[in-house]
Amino acid sequence: MDNSFATLLALSQRRRSCRRFDAERPVPDEAVERMLDMASHAPFASGRSGWKVAVVRDRETIAALAAQVRAGAEALATRMEGDAVPFWRRYAESFTFFESAPVLLVPYCRETSTMKSILREQATDDILAWEHDNLTKSLSCVAMLILLSAESLGLGACYMTGPLLAGKALNAILGLRDNFLLGAVIPVGYKL
Ligand SMILES: Cc1cc2nc3c(=O)[nH]c(=O)nc-3n(C[C@H](O)[C@H](O)[C@H](O)COP(=O)(O)O)c2cc1C
Repeated sequence: MDNSFATLLALSQRRRSCRRFDAERPVPDEAVERMLDMASHAPFASGRSGWKVAVVRDRETIAALAAQVRAGAEALATRMEGDAVPFWRRYAESFTFFESAPVLLVPYCRETSTMKSILREQATDDILAWEHDNLTKSLSCVAMLILLSAESLGLGACYMTGPLLAGKALNAILGLRDNFLLGAVIPVGYKL
């Protein structure tokens, strides 16, 4: 078996979602740089290169993000009935633990409107969703490389889309305009 395959297989087998982080142990800048370097090799639909990864270390910003996610989840709970409410509240607890991580990596890109420009009034919801999905899937490739590189550096991470239910409120906290699409919130830190 080729050695690089064996290495990648071992890394993939070892990687598991990490949800508890050592708050006393910061992630060095060098480790963040290495994860971003790895992520920069991700495939991306149409070969676009305009995507980025926000690096969030500021505690107040992270707390503000978590507060918005809690508010968003609670707003949804008010639209539910019966057993769905406690079920949802328990489930939504897994959307905010990123608050305890020393750093968050948030891959994002600008929404495109290429199909709208080409098709104009012939553009259907399906084809616009296809274009949007291409971006989401591309950001997913970026996220996967972040997860694997974190593991290779002895760090824990978790791919999280639960927090994205808070929608554009997260963009505002991150200083991003509404036409930017967030792919995930990825907390990274030393595993507890
Ligand atoms: C698209 C996507 C979104 C996810 N969102 C969350 C999330 O919001 N909260 C969470 O705790 N885990 C989240 N996860 C992690 C999954 O729960 C986890 O990958 C799965 O249970 C398998 O466990 P493993 O990663 O340890 O192999 C997400 C995973 C994916 C692929």
